[in-house]
Amino acid sequence: ATTLGAAAAQSGRYFGAATSSFMFSNTQHTTILNREFNSIVAENEMKWDATEPQQNVFNFTGSDRLVAHARANGMSVRGHALVWHAQQPGWAQNLSGTALRNAMINHINRVAGHFRGQIHSWDVVNEAFADGGGGGRRDSNLQRTGNDWIEVAFRTARTADPNAKLCYNDYNTDGINAKSTGIYNMVRDFKSRGVPIDCVGFQSHLGTGLASDYQANLQRFADLGVDVQITELDVAQGSNQASIYERVTRACLAVARCNGITVWGVRDNDSWRRGENPLLFDANGNKKPAYNSVLNAL
Ligand code: XIL
Repeated sequence: ATTLGAAAAQSGRYFGAATSSFMFSNTQHTTILNREFNSIVAENEMKWDATEPQQNVFNFTGSDRLVAHARANGMSVRGHALVWHAQQPGWAQNLSGTALRNAMINHINRVAGHFRGQIHSWDVVNEAFADGGGGGRRDSNLQRTGNDWIEVAFRTARTADPNAKLCYNDYNTDGINAKSTGIYNMVRDFKSRGVPIDCVGFQSHLGTGLASDYQANLQRFADLGVDVQITELDVAQGSNQASIYERVTRACLAVARCNGITVWGVRDNDSWRRGENPLLFDANGNKKPAYNSVLNAL
């Protein structure tokens, strides 16, 4: 195969990229996007602040364009993200308690309902665990509504879009550590109690090294009976960039329940980390050594 998407499809996986509807008018970006990737995710346009700028007033302008682009080009869509402590609209930031809980439920119902049947996998809850050694939840307005907010979010999403895979997504979970173990324990608990969860997303915003147990960590989650996905991959430019991309790709291929890989942008200049040139294509749209290492590993 000569493209990332076609190469990933050889093993039944997808290879995706984050993009934005306003980038579709950029010919170089969109030419690469359509040629190389068979899955897309909205970098920002499906987040709470974008989709519900005022309470109970929904805006799907950008996200509908993104889904239409995917359909027209034979791509699947990851949904990102229904609930998160960041990029909340101001009105939600100012809510608490029952009012916030009910707003969360309404948001999930309306957004997942709007896209019902069109999303391959939804990041239902994003980044709910704290960094550091505690392994516990992150403090947030959502967490302060009660520890059960995550399972309420997943049950609501299941009803709103019964055929989407429902994922928990987080970062700094690139090996077996306190944070990933906290998430692991939550997933194990959810599976034992029948809380609907289908997948765990590993954002994989990486620096110049990769945990030696990256693959083992994916595997232990898969062994709980959930799929795993690499959801926001980008790697700081450095002497190891190509080899880290290759190791991540090989890790996903070695785990039967790893469904696919999404990179968090197309060209280095599209990236939220553009100063680190972390992507597979340079600012001129040329393939980087990391591109070739991924293609060869798929
Ligand atoms: C980032 C986007 O790339 C930026 O454009 C935006 O300004 C901030 O959010 N974890 C996530 C993503 O789950 O939604 C974040 O995306 C990057 C970190």
